[in-house]
Amino acid sequence: MADTKKAKLIFCKDYKIGEVDNRIYGSFIEHLGRAVYGGIYEPGHPEADENGFRKDVLNLVSELNVPIIRYPGGNFVSGYNWEEGVGPLEKRPRKTELAWGTIETNQVGTNEFMNWAKKAHSEVMMAVNLGTRGADAARNLVEYCNHPGGTYWSDLRKLHGYESPYKIKTWCLGNEMDGHWQICSKTAEEYGRIACETAKVMKWVDPTIELVACGSSSSATPTFASWEAEVLDHTYEYVDYISLHQYYGNHEKDTANFLAKTLDLDLFIKSIIATCDYVKAKKRSKKTINLSLDEWNVWFHSNNADKKIEKWSIAPPLLEDIYNFEDALLVGGMLITILKHSDRIKIACLAQLVNVIAPIMTSNNGSSWRQTIFYPFMHVSNYGRGYVLNPVISTPLYDSKDFTDVPVLEAAAVVNEEKEQLTIFAINKDLNDSLVLECDVRNFEGYKIVNHIVLENDDVYAVNTEKEPYKVKPHNNGNAKIDNGIITASLSKLSWNVIVLKK
Ligand code: AHR
Repeated sequence: MADTKKAKLIFCKDYKIGEVDNRIYGSFIEHLGRAVYGGIYEPGHPEADENGFRKDVLNLVSELNVPIIRYPGGNFVSGYNWEEGVGPLEKRPRKTELAWGTIETNQVGTNEFMNWAKKAHSEVMMAVNLGTRGADAARNLVEYCNHPGGTYWSDLRKLHGYESPYKIKTWCLGNEMDGHWQICSKTAEEYGRIACETAKVMKWVDPTIELVACGSSSSATPTFASWEAEVLDHTYEYVDYISLHQYYGNHEKDTANFLAKTLDLDLFIKSIIATCDYVKAKKRSKKTINLSLDEWNVWFHSNNADKKIEKWSIAPPLLEDIYNFEDALLVGGMLITILKHSDRIKIACLAQLVNVIAPIMTSNNGSSWRQTIFYPFMHVSNYGRGYVLNPVISTPLYDSKDFTDVPVLEAAAVVNEEKEQLTIFAINKDLNDSLVLECDVRNFEGYKIVNHIVLENDDVYAVNTEKEPYKVKPHNNGNAKIDNGIITASLSKLSWNVIVLKK
């Protein structure tokens, strides 16, 4: 019999990483596949409200407690004329949508989405088109959305029936402009220049906005790091964040290696921080550029199915990854990694929210359900608000195909002072054995365990479907105990754990 595996954690109140910016629990809705049409919007569905928005979907979104949603793309935004999505519905053009090879009907546009986001209790992070358009369309959109009135674009908004300005605070300067797949992709110099001039005029229209410049589309792009350095060289003065995007897959069906990919994300984040700070040093600037991880998730299951989708369809089932149990574990690990960088990551968007690589699925004219990845996101979004603690961690390690010294235990803790609550998020990545955890929280005098939530499953490939929506779901029967400030728990093999303590 194998020796019992053990890990230790120590959390101390004063050993803080940073305050959580709640926008790290953001998500993303793109005009892509069935995210908008058939996802959030389906007039005629029995659950549709007076605006055609599905109430069942809104309820699931509210369970996730998403404070900000990026819109309208993604690759879509680089060919989008926002003016075609406002005003009378019957006048809106049907257009070929080149990013995904579909037809865009423009029945949902800026105002409809802002209305939906309000119902979802979310802010919007608006992206502007720096592919086929540029500074002029971008500054006009800021005027349309944020200017109170008395100008052409703000009065047009009023004419369209939306009296008050939306005061959209966070804006993306294009999307993945480094990628050859992007409509009108650019070199770092071309993008840096257009992003700088666009940022300048957008802020002249509304100086209260914050701007995100496009960083690399992934850590694997050939221009990664030099792209960020050059783009920031051009834009440093005008932007507040640099974006990064990261998706992982498990084509090889190698669970140990797949779960180790949080190490790659960690390195990617650290490298971008280093690059931002290099430009800061070079410019002798006092300003710090923070990170917006505005697309992250698992994405690979739907790759083959997508090749079979007929071109120029309307809202076809594109990027409909059906997530399994191990995907939920990686998503949990990615969330822990994001928390550990809460001093520099101020925005993060799980890509995406509904149907398209999403935690929420719907069927047209049918039901809606929670995918496996829904649960870790819901837990961290709801329990992970406050400040993040830096753990002292001692854990067994393993090696996998691409990684060495992978921690079997991955963990972070968040303190919510207002609620007098301490929450520990922990993953046991061991494929075969449970892990005995000892966690020292003596510094949190008087705290008691109120819940130990566990997501576990014997089958890493178990999925939730419309017919069987609850095959993978968490339970509250974890075995964590506390005695004199020392928590002990046995974390099941391959499990996601949320241990909640209250004073
Ligand atoms: O989220 C799906 C796509 O992934 C986005 O449109 C694009 O920005 C990224 O490549």
